[in-house]
Amino acid sequence: MSRRVQVFDTTLRDGEQSPGFGLTAEQKLEVAHQITRLGVDVIEAGFPIASPGDFAGVRLIAEQVTGPVIAAMARANKADIDSVAAALQAAERRRVHIVLATSPIHMEHKLRKRPEEVVAMARESVSYARSLGLEVEFCAEDATRSDWPFLVRILTVAARAGATVLNVPDTVGYTTPQEYFDLFRHLMEHVDAPEGVIYSAHCHNDLGLAVANTMAGLQAGAAQFECTVNGIGERAGNVALEEVVMAMQTRRDRYGFETGVVSRELYRTSRLLQSLTGVQVQPNKAIVGANAFAHEAGIHQDGILKHRATYEIMRPEDVGVPAHALVLGKHSGRHALRSRIEQMGYKLSDEAFDRAFARFKEVADRKKSVSDLDLEAIVCDEQATRSVTEVCRLESYQVTAGNQSLPMAVVRLAHADGAPRQEAASGDGPVDAIYAALNRAAGFDGQLLEYWSKAVGTGGDALVEVTVLVQSGSRVASGRAASTDVIEASARAYVMAINKILSGAAVLISDEPAPHWQMRAWGD
Ligand code: KIV
Ligand code: ZN
Repeated sequence: MSRRVQVFDTTLRDGEQSPGFGLTAEQKLEVAHQITRLGVDVIEAGFPIASPGDFAGVRLIAEQVTGPVIAAMARANKADIDSVAAALQAAERRRVHIVLATSPIHMEHKLRKRPEEVVAMARESVSYARSLGLEVEFCAEDATRSDWPFLVRILTVAARAGATVLNVPDTVGYTTPQEYFDLFRHLMEHVDAPEGVIYSAHCHNDLGLAVANTMAGLQAGAAQFECTVNGIGERAGNVALEEVVMAMQTRRDRYGFETGVVSRELYRTSRLLQSLTGVQVQPNKAIVGANAFAHEAGIHQDGILKHRATYEIMRPEDVGVPAHALVLGKHSGRHALRSRIEQMGYKLSDEAFDRAFARFKEVADRKKSVSDLDLEAIVCDEQATRSVTEVCRLESYQVTAGNQSLPMAVVRLAHADGAPRQEAASGDGPVDAIYAALNRAAGFDGQLLEYWSKAVGTGGDALVEVTVLVQSGSRVASGRAASTDVIEASARAYVMAINKILSGAAVLISDEPAPHWQMRAWGD
């Protein structure tokens, strides 16, 4: 018999708070809707007191997303908890995630509090949150480097004050599977908690042990695990939702766990996040990487052709990876495209569909036939473009390059609030030249920080996806685009980053410490 465990998704809080993953409130809402379709139990929507943008994101999700519990993070003080209560007001089920450090090193150097004072903060903050009618999850931050007797004491106090979920995080990715298992067993035996209180595992991947540690925590009896899509998060990231879910599904015989996650939505969720953040997963990433189901070695291909199970422990379709099959061509009409996109599980508004159809026609004109993989790249392109305010748009470009001549580019940009501008520039190569010309035409002082490109599918006419990271002053933004022409994809990706920065949707880089770490005493 399987045991049902709760999935607590913190992509929009622990994941989004790491550098380079910033999302606007609308983008967070889009991710929250997709995570809901995926079937998670709890969505941690953000840390409302951190910034007005964070507050707006949590409020929007609380107003519009139904189904999962909506959670938001607070430190153990009234102002943070009030901010969570205000942001979550419209949610059906509202949970505050109160975080308070319990390890000697954190209490002494970060909180600058004595253990007695920290226990008092736990009691008062949980009671206060309960008095506001919030469901409370209490988190003993840096639990895996805390003294076990102190953990027993503070978790008992939190549970007796009304916390119904006790989070025991491996904040710095330091524990080992056996140690984490033993810690949960010890807490379950010694914490004096009322009936119904559950434990949660929250693992970071600094030593590459996050999945193993999460499984160990659940095997010891934790009833919830906390995770992010694609494993995004602080430093080496959080445990990846898709990896834990597929480990459970593939090895149910061994683990005996089940979740409410619809595994066919995993790939789409991963791609949406990559499109919106502009941060791509590595090709060999388990479950959702481009090579996760590719078989290159001749001996493996031979085996796969004879019987898939020889080298395949999961089927690509189980996680929703689109097929390579060629499905549509340049004579395919709107109806065929719409029904194929819907069969693939995407829902586009009429306006979004019109734009996707125009992009499909462009691609179909250049390629003989269009596969599900191509369609998926087109839809991701559309999703990423739609979520950005268009301050300027690439109308045309021309590039000349060769090993005996100076690369030159001419671009024409349409501007939302003015006449189009045409500019020319030279560069070290064709992409450098086009970026210099785009900077001029947009009146933009930008610098390329990172550039990635990857082919979608195979063959000389394959679509290419380009992702860039661009900095202008104290702002950084990513851009992403797909095309059969690498120069066009490069230019459109750069224009998307320009638009994010000019419209204020970029991430602000600052030397200020994040509010997360500015711990105020209870009542301050
Ligand atoms: O890793 C951690 O300890 C956290 C808490 C703030 C929940 O993310
Ligand atoms: Zn964390």
